[in-house]
Amino acid sequence: PEISDYEFDLLLKSLEKMEVANPEWVTSDSPSRMVGEMPTAGFRSVKHRIPMLSLANTYNPEEIEDFIGRVKKNLHKENLLFSCEAKMDGIAISVRYEHGLPVRGVTRGDGSKGDDITANIMTISGLPPKLHGSSLPEYLEVRGEVFMTHEVFLALNRDREAKEESLLANPRNAAAGSLKLLDAKEVAKRNLSLFFYGIAEESGENIQSQTEAFNTLSRLGLPVIEYRKQCRTLEEIMAFIEEIRKVRANLPYDIDGVVIKLDNVNEQKKLGFTGKSPRWAVAYKFAAEQAVSRINKITIQVGRTGVLTPVAELDPVFVAGSTISRATLHNEEEIKRKDIRVGDVVIIEKGGDVIPKVVSVDLSKRPDISTPWIMPDYCPCCGSEIERTEGEVAVRCPNIAGCPDQLLRRISYFVAKSAMDIENLGVKIVDKLIVNGYVKKPSDIYKLTEEQLATLEGFKEKSIKNLLSSIEKSKTLPFARFIMALGIKYVGAGTAELLAARSGDIVTLSKMPYEELLAIQGIGTKVAQAVTEFFALPENLEEIDRLLVSGVNPQSVQVVKYDEHLFFGKIFVLTGSMEKYTRLQAATFIKERGGKVAGSVSKKTDYLLAGEEAGSKLDKAKELGIRILTEQEFDVML
Ligand code: IVH
Repeated sequence: PEISDYEFDLLLKSLEKMEVANPEWVTSDSPSRMVGEMPTAGFRSVKHRIPMLSLANTYNPEEIEDFIGRVKKNLHKENLLFSCEAKMDGIAISVRYEHGLPVRGVTRGDGSKGDDITANIMTISGLPPKLHGSSLPEYLEVRGEVFMTHEVFLALNRDREAKEESLLANPRNAAAGSLKLLDAKEVAKRNLSLFFYGIAEESGENIQSQTEAFNTLSRLGLPVIEYRKQCRTLEEIMAFIEEIRKVRANLPYDIDGVVIKLDNVNEQKKLGFTGKSPRWAVAYKFAAEQAVSRINKITIQVGRTGVLTPVAELDPVFVAGSTISRATLHNEEEIKRKDIRVGDVVIIEKGGDVIPKVVSVDLSKRPDISTPWIMPDYCPCCGSEIERTEGEVAVRCPNIAGCPDQLLRRISYFVAKSAMDIENLGVKIVDKLIVNGYVKKPSDIYKLTEEQLATLEGFKEKSIKNLLSSIEKSKTLPFARFIMALGIKYVGAGTAELLAARSGDIVTLSKMPYEELLAIQGIGTKVAQAVTEFFALPENLEEIDRLLVSGVNPQSVQVVKYDEHLFFGKIFVLTGSMEKYTRLQAATFIKERGGKVAGSVSKKTDYLLAGEEAGSKLDKAKELGIRILTEQEFDVML
């Protein structure tokens, strides 16, 4: 994830507000309508008999108060009982038992269908191979969460580190990845755990409340959520949340909040569901996890553009599912503002999966002798005098060609997945290649020989062969990724796509004047300037030349001349669902070709693109005599 759960939820909330105010903007693929993920290759897709929904999230007590108020109002009842439960931070699954035996395990997927992972869940030791008791239900479908304990997670990562494999970000990702392994024997080695929290469907029992559901699950031998409590008032609920917040740090597994559910099943049924979540439940989520640690040292990291970033080296602590021993301090200003010093006891925070940061200093614990931190005047890596630019907080090492750290970051960026995508070439190996003097610039990678690699520690015949073949494989790549690999300032993946689509090939791009770049929709002055400056430097052009000569062959793109396209200046309205594109994609294609997309049909509409199950917009378009396009026709015109 690029942003924390918290930030994601905030964005989702603002989207939902917009959609309420502008219903015509809602698309069928809006994140507000969707629960989860795409099907995974290698697994059979199974339709859920009862959909697997999601929960509305809140981060503050007022919203819980609102929730209770709403429930009371809609049920015309004051005295209610809620089941409050720890919210497990794992992967949702549905397990079906028939005559006491587990017959199927399915992931949540998109909520209406998921991946059949029966063989994988059968390897989880917590899943009873037979339900307990004598009178077993004919069928019982239970819902729960698969997770990985901290202990298992840490051991798995230690093992991966030893094998020089990439580390897993947190126990949730590790559990998700494990469940999707295609070989159940491998899944068994991952030691997954699970807890159940609900019953989707059952024969016989006729369960009246969430509390009863827990009792039934336990009686049948199914492991259930350990932390739960019946509450009647907001005060009781908040007290339980605080209790959970306190025990959370010491639990052997991750939880990310508390789920509050109306206990009575009949009352739940009366309230029903909104699009994707029940009206009778809400999740209170803990925003970000904080922990206390001590700064032992402040080191400086030199980035690929020479920017120096101070980093706090901490006593290792466990936060939000992983052990943290470093936190970014961003820049000199930030350190001054928070008065962060070596030896300080600090509060660090990790929101979701983003890089941890230092929130504040506990001044009461500051050592007697302590001095403010100052940015050194020389690059800690190559010793060059650092440079400051007016109006910028960042300081830079100007030694672009000779600073080893800059080179390491640049090369690592060049070979990364989003750029040249050279597999088997991690930071550690890049470092070895630089230290041995084999790689001084990106194009040197394409000159590496078997003999050179054989001199590297730990490199044997197989690893040499693998690396050389990955390098070879990387040569043919989409043009956009090649643009990324060049490392032009401000050019991320999206911008690279735009530049690729509008220039077609590297020669054209390198000659595009500033005005022409600026004319591309989605490109502003900052990027246009950075791109022109990049291609104005002879050393950059020479390096591109060397790459091309060594066989790198970015696949050029056919440039669409937008003002000649059929869609130019035309107004489209989209309705129904299409097979090949989401509505968002279709809208993007239209806009890229100079067309416009409107929310509702009017006399001005040129085309109505009508997919399956088109509704009232189709009727209106017919009435107004507007040209209606099927998906196939649209495809041809595109
Ligand atoms: S009840 C109809 N209870 O949270 C909603 N969910 O954000 C059913 N989760 O998909 C969900 N602990 O994977 C419920 N005690 C708990 C839970 C829980 C974790 C997960 C579950 C769900 C997600 C929703």
